[in-house]
Amino acid sequence: MIRLDGVTKTYPDGTTAVDDLSLVAPKGRITALVGPSGCGKTTTLRMINRMIEPTAGTITVDGQDVASMDAAQLRRGIGYVIQHGGLFPHRTVERNVMTVPLLLGWDRTRARARATELLEMVGLDPAMAKRYPSQLSGGQQQRVGVARALAADPPVMLMDEPFSAVDPVVREQLQDEFLRLQRELGTTIVLVTHDIDEAIKLGDQVAVLRVGGRLAQAADPATLLTHPADPFVADFLGRDRGYRGLGFTHARLPIHPETTTPLGQPVGSVGDRWVLVVDPADRPLGWVERERVAGPVTKDDLALGGTLAPVDGSLRAALDAALSSPSRRGVVVDGDGCVVGTVRAPEVVAAIERTERPDAPDESPAPAGETS
Ligand SMILES: Nc1ncnc2c1ncn2[C@@H]1O[C@H](COP(=O)(O)OP(=O)(O)O)[C@@H](O)[C@H]1O
Ligand SMILES: [Mg+2]
Repeated sequence: MIRLDGVTKTYPDGTTAVDDLSLVAPKGRITALVGPSGCGKTTTLRMINRMIEPTAGTITVDGQDVASMDAAQLRRGIGYVIQHGGLFPHRTVERNVMTVPLLLGWDRTRARARATELLEMVGLDPAMAKRYPSQLSGGQQQRVGVARALAADPPVMLMDEPFSAVDPVVREQLQDEFLRLQRELGTTIVLVTHDIDEAIKLGDQVAVLRVGGRLAQAADPATLLTHPADPFVADFLGRDRGYRGLGFTHARLPIHPETTTPLGQPVGSVGDRWVLVVDPADRPLGWVERERVAGPVTKDDLALGGTLAPVDGSLRAALDAALSSPSRRGVVVDGDGCVVGTVRAPEVVAAIERTERPDAPDESPAPAGETS
């Protein structure tokens, strides 16, 4: 756990970058610090690993005051990732990842083995190990940056806009993998971003800062979206707040059985206008219009499918699946991607109506959908 108590940083020129900030970053969770440019996010992060010394207040990591620790030693125990990966340009990818283990006195064989393991863990081809950072794409460099920060298995990781320099598709991919990795490793993470969507996606807790380095609100994403503390936070959250809040709301929904047709089979002439086509494992491939298909269904007959809703997913996923489906029946899939049934938009809306607005958000996992 990282605790900031009344932390203030005033730079020598008189700029107060962080003002009386108190915040707890819980163990094994991701705390996202978010706010407009210049609100003191980077300053806050760098005070945690003592690259910047606070003017006032205390910071503890697992109960230990960082001011009383040796700064270099503290930093070796805390992973630090910055925009563009912050790699050493004159060192190979592998050597970059080996940096901290070598500083910690590991022998080269062990450090190299660890680097190989980590590069694989962050989804990089082993062939990249001998390349230099300039020979990698932005997304690949960012992965190396994460691998390097994880090298000595630090219990704490600080990340400063780690995904902002990559294009949106790669960013989404990196975010998903990062979340998986964090859940697996249980690292305590403080992540800085100016992107509220990223904060909401990645943060177990989101701390919104306003310029001047003052905390506007710290809450879990669902609470933030449904109960912003003030107009600044509401404004910063932006559009579709209510809809986005549904991304964190779970409720039981009626799941209707859906008759499916395997690819290569005829759809028959009786039944609903839209027919859901599946692969041999029962995974949805798309919808076809019954009248338009003569003979066995081929790939060319498929209309674009809607989004898929996981069976234990949010109301947002369920509603979107229904609204984006040509049949208006939202396809629900299980963990293997196989069709469970379909949901209807009015029934999702009815479920929303039944949901209490969370004053104290329910932490319990959502119940699996029931079959009607
Ligand atoms: N070394 C410095 N000297 C003076 N002012 C600084 C220094 N570093 C940052 N600042 C100022 O402190 C404020 C917060 O900066 P920073 O922590 O980098 O914000 P953010 O990361 O949220 O964009 C800004 O007004 C910035 O100009
Ligand atoms: Mg910054």
